[in-house]
Formats: sequence, structure tokens, C-alpha cells
Amino acid sequence: MAALVMPHSRPATTNVPIGTSLWHARAAGICVEISENGIVANPINSLNRLISCSLNPTVKGLVWNRGQNPLKEEIKAFTDQCLPDGNGMPFAYEQIDLRNSLSNRVDSVNTLCSKLVSKLPSPLRSALEADALMLCSTLTSLCPSSPWLTVQLECVGHNNCSRWHQDMYVGRALISYTGPGTWLVDDRNVDFEMLEKSLGMTSEVSDRLIVPDRSKVHEAGTNSVCLLKGNSWMDIQGLGVTHKSPVVERDGEGRVREKRLVLKVDLSNTQPGI
Ligand SMILES: [Fe+2]
Repeated sequence: MAALVMPHSRPATTNVPIGTSLWHARAAGICVEISENGIVANPINSLNRLISCSLNPTVKGLVWNRGQNPLKEEIKAFTDQCLPDGNGMPFAYEQIDLRNSLSNRVDSVNTLCSKLVSKLPSPLRSALEADALMLCSTLTSLCPSSPWLTVQLECVGHNNCSRWHQDMYVGRALISYTGPGTWLVDDRNVDFEMLEKSLGMTSEVSDRLIVPDRSKVHEAGTNSVCLLKGNSWMDIQGLGVTHKSPVVERDGEGRVREKRLVLKVDLSNTQPGI
């Protein structure tokens, strides 16, 4: 059963920047239908399974548990000495318009991913480049008509206190190499009315109002691959998957215990900013 929060039936998919959420879409006069049927497929055990499950319109989010990364110690050593990104700016960021590389798309994506990892120490470069290529290939094969491909590496040194939200991009695939991964939730466990009513509250307060049953949260583990369908995914019913960045552990002085190294790959219909 779907609940309409605007008097139209489908979300608009253009001219809305990445990171735009339900209340922003409404403020922009965009029609939003709330679906209560979307689910998170978790756990997935292979890339092939992730791709096949993502073809199900009911599946809005997927978590592929890859187990421990063979380079766990090297990644931790790098992340420990990494300066946290400031103001939400990733330390590596590349973007291409796939319409400009129709004849040599593979080369363009290869170059994109090679540039992305160029600031990493050599032991990590090839492994993270392979992951970036895999995520790019997965998203672009699932949504071949979406032109903007953006790849980012972030060192997250603080809890950005993300609220539960959906995004207007087509899709995002991401991996947290250290620390916890993204949190996702099935539609039926989201209080969509409270999602709007809690605007302006701290995430500590709004988290419990929007998703009252904490046990229903799908928490992606370290090194898991998450695939998030956004509001612009081609056959999405209602909004994209509701998600947030994880609540992280802090020490006695409020400092985050473990920085997170995160790879993000986004596919969008309009050019996103950083
Ligand atoms: Fe998001």
C-alpha cells in the first residue's frame, strides 16, 4: 500500500542535486510517492547474486558481505595516518560524463578509477582500483542510460550525524574498508510521516522516531559492498532506500575511535556537485 504525500504519482528524476532528500524534493515542488514495500536484500554472498537481486523492483538496497579484506592491516595503517576529510570534501574525487566517451567507455572508466587511487600507497592501489572498477561496472550495466559517473574516496574522521534519508541519485555503491558500513532499512520499518516531522531535530532524537525498532536496521559490515537505489532508479516504486551513515563508537572524550575509509561510486542523471 503506497501513501501519497503529494498529489501526483511518481517522483521527478531531473534537476535535483545529489543528496537531495524527501523534504528537499517536496520543497522543490517535486511529487513524491511513498512505497511501503521496498526491502533490503541482506546478506548477499556474491556479485552475481547482488546483480540478479537488484533487478527485483522491490529490492531497494543490497548488502554483499565479503568477509575480511586480505589487506585489512595495510588499510588500517593507511587510514590511521590519514587526515580526516574536512567539510565533507573527499580526498580523492573523479567524475565523467559517459555520453562523452561512448566509443571508449571502458578506457574512460579505467582512467577514472586509476586517477582515483593515485594518492593511495602502492600496496592498496590495485585492490581499491579493482573494487572501484567493479562498482562502476555494476552500476553502469544496471542503469546504462544514466550519464554521470562519480567516484570518491573519503577518510571520515567524525560522525557526520546523518539523519535517515533517501537520495535523488540513480544509485550509489559503496564500501567501508574500516569501521562500520552504511545502515539501511526496509520501507515498512520507516515512519515516513515522522521523517518529515522530525526535520530540525538532532539525529540522536530523530533516528528513533523515524526507525523506532532499532533491531530492524540492516548494518553493513566492514568491507561489505552496499548498493543503494536512489529516487531516480529507473523502476523504483516510491522513494529510494532509506539509509544513513552508521553511528560510530566514541571514546570518553567524544572522539571517534576509528576513522572510516570509504569508497563511493555514484550514478546520476544530472551532474552532481561534491
Ligand atoms: Fe545518502
